[in-house]
Amino acid sequence: MSNESIPSLLLNSGVQIPQLGFGVFQVPPKQTRDVVSTALDVGYRHIDTAQMYRNERGVGEALADSGLDRDEFFVTSKLNNAFHAHDDALAAFDRTLEELQLEHVDLFLIHWPLPAVDKYVEAWGALEEIYRSGHARAIGVSNFEPHHLRRLMDETTVVPAVNQVEVHPWLGNEDVRAVDAEHGIVTEAWSPLGRGRVLEDPTIARIAANLGKTPAQVVLRWHIERGDVIFPKSVTPARIKENVQLFDFELSDADMADISALDRGERVGSHPDTMNNTGR
Ligand SMILES: NC(=O)c1ccc[n+]([C@@H]2O[C@H](COP(=O)([O-])OP(=O)(O)OC[C@H]3O[C@@H](n4cnc5c(N)ncnc54)[C@H](OP(=O)(O)O)[C@@H]3O)[C@@H](O)[C@H]2O)c1
Repeated sequence: MSNESIPSLLLNSGVQIPQLGFGVFQVPPKQTRDVVSTALDVGYRHIDTAQMYRNERGVGEALADSGLDRDEFFVTSKLNNAFHAHDDALAAFDRTLEELQLEHVDLFLIHWPLPAVDKYVEAWGALEEIYRSGHARAIGVSNFEPHHLRRLMDETTVVPAVNQVEVHPWLGNEDVRAVDAEHGIVTEAWSPLGRGRVLEDPTIARIAANLGKTPAQVVLRWHIERGDVIFPKSVTPARIKENVQLFDFELSDADMADISALDRGERVGSHPDTMNNTGR
């Protein structure tokens, strides 16, 4: 697997983002260095972490071990929910750079809007400063519903480069994807495998058997053909390798339609309007 075969998308900040990355939610901190090293060895060049995951240090260690030049990989982290106040956000971002042992991240996101706390506009002001300082090459949001996005764009200056939201065959999240597209915001699909649950679906099993691919490869390929950015997570070396092998086959229009028709509005994670874990 060479990373040349992973396509990139252009963000509104002018930065290219590899469309396939590697997610490290729930990768235990002590295992992160080894797991991320395995991912880099098989060709991933984009890592999605967060302050909340408590494994930025392991990500940074694996990147340092890899010997890759800084412009050969793309790293995203996210602001923890406890730090939406302006000065807290700036201080938390500095800790992220320390943990990752980097001078800059490629993308920094507000992790959740937390409407009950109602400080995401203030947090965005801090992210705009970080962006202007050059320590983040792009800034974006995560779990923003259309009404959060519209308010942010009404009250601030920089349009988010991405919106990272839950998307998989059981949750198409089409209304959010449409608003993102309308504003040139790239949609990143989190839990692209529905945490593994959608892989049992008989429609996906049928398509996988017909193509001689695994259910995970079929689902991930569906995301790629829809144009979203994905970063499946696995701690299992064989799966880490399987999940990057997506660029030697295509889905037919009928297969794409059959998978999209599985949408039943079913989430594996929290709804952004009610998620209220303040991280404190
Ligand atoms: N912004 C947010 O609020 C948010 C929320 C959730 C996730 N995310 C991001 O999205 C990333 C991915 O989401 P996720 O970790 O929730 O779920 P996911 O990638 O949809 O699924 C991960 C699960 O699927 C299993 N799996 C992976 N590859 C497989 C394969 N080829 N065959 C069978 N099973 C497979 C993994 O098992 P093993 O690990 O045991 O192999 C794990 O249990 C996260 O790591 C994180 O970076 C962001």
